[in-house]
Amino acid sequence: VETEFEELYEANQFAKEFFIRNLMKTTEGKKAIEYLYKRGINDATIRNFELGYSPEQWDALVQYAIKQNFSLESLEKAGVVARREDGAYYDRFRGRVIFPIFSITGRTIAFGGRRLKDDENIPKYINSPETKVYTKGKVLYGLYQGKEAIRRKGYAILVEGYMDCISLFQAGIENVVASGGTALTEEQVRLISNYTNTIYFLYDADSAGAKAMMRGIDLMLAQGLDVYIVKLPEGEDPDSFIKKNPISEFNKLIENAVNFVEFKALTYQQLGKFDDPNVKVKAIRSLVESISKIPDELKRNVFIREISSKYKIPERLLVNEVESIILRAR
Ligand code: CTP
Ligand code: MN
Ligand code: MN
Ligand code: MN
Ligand code: MN
Repeated sequence: VETEFEELYEANQFAKEFFIRNLMKTTEGKKAIEYLYKRGINDATIRNFELGYSPEQWDALVQYAIKQNFSLESLEKAGVVARREDGAYYDRFRGRVIFPIFSITGRTIAFGGRRLKDDENIPKYINSPETKVYTKGKVLYGLYQGKEAIRRKGYAILVEGYMDCISLFQAGIENVVASGGTALTEEQVRLISNYTNTIYFLYDADSAGAKAMMRGIDLMLAQGLDVYIVKLPEGEDPDSFIKKNPISEFNKLIENAVNFVEFKALTYQQLGKFDDPNVKVKAIRSLVESISKIPDELKRNVFIREISSKYKIPERLLVNEVESIILRAR
């Protein structure tokens, strides 16, 4: 089994070196460098995150592997090349900026690739398929680079995307990780909880981001984490925000982060008609659901008190609701 893991690590390493060389040393790669510069990414960041480029050609990596006498079968197992029905190998990543994904010990285990062209007919991002060394929902992008800062600062900032992560890191906000898409998983929460118990949730300020945070909050509460929700101006993501604003404005966002009670209240308020008792009931139910996930009884009661005073609901009633949910879940 160990040698099988080793085979996949080596294949990913081989592919990564190929992608880096293409970015740095080829004419075609210059387009990708220009793209990254245009997006404000500098050389230090490119090096630190080991960004690369995959040529547009169908079989650039395949041909390179043949020339270097590297096993195509291994590259296929690692998911960086695939096989057509007629048996011919071809590259998975073509014409893309490559973001290597690292394990916690710094091994390359997979890749994300962003299209260079703004061609709506191809997906903006593609990722390596799941392999023996890569399960999408068990990895946080940037954790390898960010873990020291997370420990030092005592909290992590959780963003959606690759670009969000490397842009914040470049701006000096190094305690950042990305879930890679919107669906945060229990395993990702467990992983981060090895480094800190405090999360600042900073997803894109669009409806997908808000929905994902609503779901993500409960996952984090259930594992005993303290979660704060950061509010970006509508339509922005962390990458676009940090490029338009001085770091002091970013720090303000962090200082103004709200807890989940405030966040849910705000979200229901934005649905409008907050004077409608039915909407109010929905908000309170959603809050009670979240609280029932919190393992620590003291913490549950502190938040119950907050809701009680905010909505003028007797504490006893809220405690009963929470306890009946907990009992039902057992
Ligand atoms: N994602 C993905 N596949 C897609 C779209 C998105 O895997 N087709 C993941 C990527 O990890 C991406 C993250 O979801 O970084 C967030 O998506 P999105 O906000 O759409 O992209 P951005 O990260 O903002 O990318 P960019 O700024 O380059 O447009
Ligand atoms: Mn812990
Ligand atoms: Mn998004
Ligand atoms: Mn985004
Ligand atoms: Mn973006």
